[in-house]
Amino acid sequence: MNLPKKVRMFEVGPRDGLQNEKNVVPVEIKVGLIDRLTEAGLPVVEATSFVSPKWVPQLADAPEVLAKIRRKPGVSYPVLVPNRKGLDGAIAAGCDEIVIFGAASEAFSKRNTNCTIAEGLARFAEVCDEALDRGIRVRGDISVCLGCPYDGEVDPAQVTAVARELYAMGCYEVCIADTIGVGTPGKTRAVFEDVARHIPVEKLAGHFHDTYGQALANTYAALECGVAVFDSSIAGLGGCPYAKGATGNVATEDVLFMLEGLNIETGVDMGKLVEAGRYICDFLGRPTGSRVARALMAKAA
Ligand code: HMG
Ligand code: MG
Repeated sequence: MNLPKKVRMFEVGPRDGLQNEKNVVPVEIKVGLIDRLTEAGLPVVEATSFVSPKWVPQLADAPEVLAKIRRKPGVSYPVLVPNRKGLDGAIAAGCDEIVIFGAASEAFSKRNTNCTIAEGLARFAEVCDEALDRGIRVRGDISVCLGCPYDGEVDPAQVTAVARELYAMGCYEVCIADTIGVGTPGKTRAVFEDVARHIPVEKLAGHFHDTYGQALANTYAALECGVAVFDSSIAGLGGCPYAKGATGNVATEDVLFMLEGLNIETGVDMGKLVEAGRYICDFLGRPTGSRVARALMAKAA
């Protein structure tokens, strides 16, 4: 087996995890969560989004959150940016990394960002140029790569076409997302193999929602393709407000448990990670979505 020796765990809980919460989570709790995640050794914590507060009210407090976190040296705190206005907000907040986010289907692009794929890419090219000029790193995420809630099946060639555009504009990494968790390992492999014919696999990342319980299996399939960066969400929180029924990302604790079992290095401490999950679940008043956290907490009790 030729699996990567190291994986970069890209935590998206404070953004993807919380964006779908109906009740506004106070700034202090968001900050407490982010600081606990970095204390657990996560090298990247996607902190928030600079999107329209009319579209995602939960993250309207992005500037306050970024002003209050304890920035740990060596950790990146990327934020989602959909347009020029979002970039201005991110710059004012002192961000050094942004995430632009397109889609592999027209219907999802429209529902999520109110524009066609091509219009979105044109907007992103402008944002990307400006960010790179200012020394801000840019990552590109692509939604619905393994199926769309509106258009159904998605051809890997559509994913590859968008990925190539994002990479050509200067994204340091392109993240292939299964927004609604309908992917299975064979499909996952097919998409990554198609994209990797045009973009080095070291520049690719995986983002799997666990709606149908396939996210860990898909993570493993992507590992076998040589992918070594994975998004995950603490306690399995989250979903996308513009993809009905989509549940959270694969839980960070569950990904870590699998990677530890494979002797893949991450630098993340399981005990501290489980505590970070407990902190946010206690606040939300709901049990963790992580099977591993549940098992470890039961064992410790
Ligand atoms: P629009 O309505 O076409 O935009 O939305 P607009 O330019 O007409 O602006 C509408 C209002 O929003 C205006 O305010 C703007 O100023 C304001 P008004 O004049 O009416 O008072 N506005 C903004 N305010 C703050 N920051 C901004 C901003 N932009 C406009 N950046 C837009 C277009 C792209 C803005 C909107 O569709 C949007 O914000 N979409 C984001 C949706 C979103 O965040 N979705 C979830 C994240 S993506 C995701 O979860 C998937 C991912 O996890 C991968 C996966 O799993 O697939 C990444
Ligand atoms: Mg997502």
